[in-house]
Amino acid sequence: MSKLIISEGRPLKGRVRVSGAKNSILPIIAASLLADGKSTIDEIPYLNDVKIMCDLVKSLGASVTLSDEKTKLEICCRGLSNTTAPYELVNKMRASFLVAGPLLAKAGYVQISLPGGCAIGSRPVDLHLKGFMALGASITQGHGYIEARRSGRLKGNKVYLDFPSVGATENIMMAATLAEGVTIIENAAIEPEIVDLATYLTSMGADIKGAGTDTVKIYGVSDLKATSHTVIPDRIEAGTYMVAAAITGGDVVVENVVTDHLKPVTAKLREAGVEVSEELSSIRVRRRDLSAVDIKTHPYPGFPTDMQSQMTSLLSMACGTSMVIETIFENRFMHVSELKRMGANIKVEGRSAIIEGGSRLTGAKVKATDLRAGAALILAGLTADGTTEIENMEHVDRGYIGIDEKLKNLGANVVRVDDDSGN
Ligand code: UD1
Repeated sequence: MSKLIISEGRPLKGRVRVSGAKNSILPIIAASLLADGKSTIDEIPYLNDVKIMCDLVKSLGASVTLSDEKTKLEICCRGLSNTTAPYELVNKMRASFLVAGPLLAKAGYVQISLPGGCAIGSRPVDLHLKGFMALGASITQGHGYIEARRSGRLKGNKVYLDFPSVGATENIMMAATLAEGVTIIENAAIEPEIVDLATYLTSMGADIKGAGTDTVKIYGVSDLKATSHTVIPDRIEAGTYMVAAAITGGDVVVENVVTDHLKPVTAKLREAGVEVSEELSSIRVRRRDLSAVDIKTHPYPGFPTDMQSQMTSLLSMACGTSMVIETIFENRFMHVSELKRMGANIKVEGRSAIIEGGSRLTGAKVKATDLRAGAALILAGLTADGTTEIENMEHVDRGYIGIDEKLKNLGANVVRVDDDSGN
């Protein structure tokens, strides 16, 4: 347990480099189970969630080596010694469910704990299971676990997703790589991380067409080989530093970005009066006055739900009334009550937050309830008068590599205090 103490809000200035995408590396580690041999993955963000996924694939029989600089993983898979993903690991991180597709395809059987509820909503896995069943798997459920098995190879089929779920698209895509015949996922998610996973699988020998569109075709192959891959930059980490520059009235160059992936964030920041200039692989963000904007979260290329809480912090300082509507998760306004303790004027009605902007934020003791809620509180603290203490930083550490160091390099006055050591 640790907390971050931020004193004296001040404009951030300088350059910050974005790490590899958390939401890419997690399915990519799971996909490594499909190959025989040693895969090398570069630009990995060695976050707590990544450690959990590594522990999970190790428990299934893979060996994992991390480079000294903690930016490269070698995953060696020569047969699977276990096909059970236990509650202890799936409960810690919902993305653990992504080993289900690879295990089902490769080993023919998987027993995996149901992910259960999480802080931002119920997050079911019905679409993942619908896909597995369409490919011929039989599914049973009991004692908090799901069992999926196939007899013979999985068989390619059409799968229509009622909602373009990121995780379901990934799980079904991975399972279908080793199926017999063609699988067509309709209404598939089109997030950049889906494309990154498809690139990885293709370099393993899979035959995938249309990743990044709403119709993905997977032509099954008989086996996949180990490969090497470099993970795409994390667009949510990039967006968070862009908001950090904007909220503090600073001037920051965010490096190692794919500007296309940031279009919805860039568009909304510009609409709010923030100056955003795009270079080939970097973005410069400066701000003077801020005005209110309305935001509605949508699947990509709509405004990302993972940037909603950070924008809520920013809009609490903008001139005028903004409305933020969350359409992806049912309980994703937990940062609001904490922001109100810092002086923000926000009213939540169902899935909408109405923000009366122009508040001068003041430092307070606040608690991160989940990853992005924690990021929103850090952003508020970076501009607040006085001292802000953000507790439960372990949530933030799930998604941001070295956030204290990166903020310090931009001139923020931040100190981490480890509760265990009493420092
Ligand atoms: C991924 C991201 C997460 C992001 C989310 C939406 C990873 C590791 N995490 O999560 O950061 O916030 O996409 O962009 O990539 N749903 C169902 N049934 C299902 C699956 C999903 O109803 O079987 C619903 C969920 O409850 C939710 C919505 O679909 O309301 C979106 O979920 P999904 O796209 O699956 O998100 P994740 O893959 O869990």
